[in-house]
Amino acid sequence: MSSRIQSRTRIAIVGAGPAGLMLSHLLAQAGIDSVAVDVRGRREIEQTHRAGILEQDSVDLLVDTGVSDRVRSDGYQHDGIELAFGGGSHRIDFQGLVGAATQLYPQTDVFIDLADARQRDGGDVRFGVADVSVDDLTTDSPVLRFTDSAGTAHEIRADFLVGADGSRSLCRHEVPADRRSQYFREYPFAWFGILAEAPPSAPELIYNHSPRGFALISQRTETLQRMYFQCDPAENVDAWTDDRIWAELQSRVGANGYTLAEGPITGKSVLPFRSFVQEPMYYGRLVLAGDAAHTVPPTGAKGLNLALADVRVLAEELERALAANDSAPLATYSERALRRVWKAQHFSYWMTTMLHTLPEATPFDLRRQEGELAAVTGSTAGATFLAEAYTGWPQRK
Ligand code: PHB
Repeated sequence: MSSRIQSRTRIAIVGAGPAGLMLSHLLAQAGIDSVAVDVRGRREIEQTHRAGILEQDSVDLLVDTGVSDRVRSDGYQHDGIELAFGGGSHRIDFQGLVGAATQLYPQTDVFIDLADARQRDGGDVRFGVADVSVDDLTTDSPVLRFTDSAGTAHEIRADFLVGADGSRSLCRHEVPADRRSQYFREYPFAWFGILAEAPPSAPELIYNHSPRGFALISQRTETLQRMYFQCDPAENVDAWTDDRIWAELQSRVGANGYTLAEGPITGKSVLPFRSFVQEPMYYGRLVLAGDAAHTVPPTGAKGLNLALADVRVLAEELERALAANDSAPLATYSERALRRVWKAQHFSYWMTTMLHTLPEATPFDLRRQEGELAAVTGSTAGATFLAEAYTGWPQRK
């Protein structure tokens, strides 16, 4: 039928965000060819603001596989976080408790480093494609079809297909309903996120519980800060002037003794909160990775870290699958990845519910949350549990 250009690769990847590009990079290092496509343009992905905290293993993966030295030189090592509640602030000392740290380095920069590394190494990555579809998933020669940015139609046969196409994944929907389970949770709040031209207000991140709701004081650079406050999911950003935003943030952190350094606000957006998992993370010769298979609420910044942990395992299992021309390792990948995914689902849910105020919250609920926060911060066992999860459960264990 077609005037499509036909070609072959070992692994065809839908999605060239951090998950798809990291996978393609790891496969290349194992001598395995892949093609990654994305409907978004490179600039468009670069302009998507996401979380900014990397677990130690995520940093090591980027550095050790030659993707980025910038993550160490331009990022900021954080040895702990502050949990502010009940009129004061309590530090969780990651180094002291678990001998680990996190790195403040925005996801956009991770993406830029990966895209540059793929380009440097001659990787086949096509941005700005259209009409993406996948087919023949239960055969040993599945196919990826798309139209490239110049309007040429392609058909690429592969040994395996990977859906790393984000939370609005089209690949996920290719799994028949009777072959998968989906787990959902919606939350009755969202985050209002801002970028502000101001100096840092504190050396580390502050997770701030207050009677007016949650606020997170994060950072980007010496002159640019990232902050969030809990809001209604239907909140209209245009209704918020800079003055109104600063007043709201100051009143939330002021309850715990902080004052924020203010400055012009250069970005405003509302971030939805959802927990989602689809399992298993494969069907036939299609395998899912990152947000395509699971979404976490942003409290705790697990999204990108989970995606990188997925593809590290996936690269290993795909190598086995190719060597044996057998899809059994995809099931092993799914089991291995899901163990971490569900721990991260719990952690993100726990941080979210411990720190945010439900719309119908009573004074009892607020005091109970303060009790929970006091129990966690006041106990080495409690604080260690948080520190271990936040810095990321070591992948080698
Ligand atoms: C961020 O800096 O964007 C950030 C940090 C920590 C989180 C979420 C987002 O838990």
